[in-house]
Amino acid sequence: MIVDDKLRTPGAVRDAERWTAHNYHPLPVVISSAEGAWLTDVDGRRYLDCLAGYSALNFGHRHPQLIAAAHAQLDRLTLTSRAFIHDQFADFCRELAELCGKDLVLPMNTGAEAVETGIKVARKWGYQVKGVAAGQANIVVAEGNFHGRTTTIVSFSTDEDARADFGPYTPGFTVVPYGDLDALTAAINENTVAVLLEPIQGEQGVVVPPEGYLPGVRQVCTERNVLFIADEIQSGLGRTGATFACDHEGVVPDMYLLGKALGGGIVPVSAVAANADVLGVLKPGQHGSTFGGNPLACAVAIEVVRLLATGEFQRRSAELGERLRAGLEGLLGKGLVGVRVRGLWAGLDIDPALMSGREACERLAARGVLAKDTHGSTIRLAPPLVITEEEIDLAVAQLTEVLAG
Ligand SMILES: Cc1ncc(COP(=O)(O)O)c(C=O)c1O
Repeated sequence: MIVDDKLRTPGAVRDAERWTAHNYHPLPVVISSAEGAWLTDVDGRRYLDCLAGYSALNFGHRHPQLIAAAHAQLDRLTLTSRAFIHDQFADFCRELAELCGKDLVLPMNTGAEAVETGIKVARKWGYQVKGVAAGQANIVVAEGNFHGRTTTIVSFSTDEDARADFGPYTPGFTVVPYGDLDALTAAINENTVAVLLEPIQGEQGVVVPPEGYLPGVRQVCTERNVLFIADEIQSGLGRTGATFACDHEGVVPDMYLLGKALGGGIVPVSAVAANADVLGVLKPGQHGSTFGGNPLACAVAIEVVRLLATGEFQRRSAELGERLRAGLEGLLGKGLVGVRVRGLWAGLDIDPALMSGREACERLAARGVLAKDTHGSTIRLAPPLVITEEEIDLAVAQLTEVLAG
């Protein structure tokens, strides 16, 4: 038996806190290896991963097809910059464009970069195509949004932790309540170039808008000549039981923003997908990234797109999501006061009188299940889509025990 003072975790937690800025508040768990839906810490304890790197690990840890692609590419070519073309680039862009049903793809690295790219493209489109007066372009966004952490993106955040003391803020955004089509419609004027929305608000606690909202947004954007930009960075690529969360309502945005799972949990890969009349406004020198679309990223992401093209992961997410929903809804009134589920993505509101979301996550971790709280008493579950029925039952059973105290 391992005695406590021989555990490596406490020292590793201390060291991590000593040597980094405290811009995160991680659970005190130190992971050293992983496979599929399971993580192992430095003391050999195993955990079921119910966060999946905020959906960056939709295909599980170290999916064999993705790891093989990465290994093969590491042995041939890793970086060229976009000054030259490499032999993985066209296939990645074509296959992702086909998955999205769009003409063109612009690859970047992080999600925030994809959002910044979308904003820049929308503004340029507004001036050059829509004819908005210089410097007047406006983008309508939603309350409770989370699109990343750059200075422009936090400028239109409604979360004071994300925003306060990072001004002066970038102008050109109007915030409206999420899910309120009338408010969104009223905010659109002749200077509006885009509506930027998450089709489901992940960080806000997996908030699903009312049925009909997304089709309504699509319609008003079409009528008013405004681009509909869907931030599917967390909701896309199989998470909700469809390739895109917009698919559930038959909505096709003008621009998809993608990230997280696109890199297969191996490398940061993000992208913007849109038609040529939109992405075509960019000319050489107007946007770019040294690492965006690099050979290693493209080699991994090609395989991600191929995994998604089979439809298997979307199916798994839809089917297993129903099992997750049934299990979680059974806990309503038994410690949970709210449950929202789309595919293998769930937001759970814990009765605040019982415990905070953080405390619930700490107790879950002690029982071998890793999840993450958000906004006080809410927990988000987003297990890898390779999770099995038995593992879902295990997670629900451990949550039941935690809520029972
Ligand atoms: C919807 C959404 N957009 C953008 C981002 C930012 O992505 P990144 O952290 O890769 O910059 C996130 C991250 O959680 C997200 O959930």
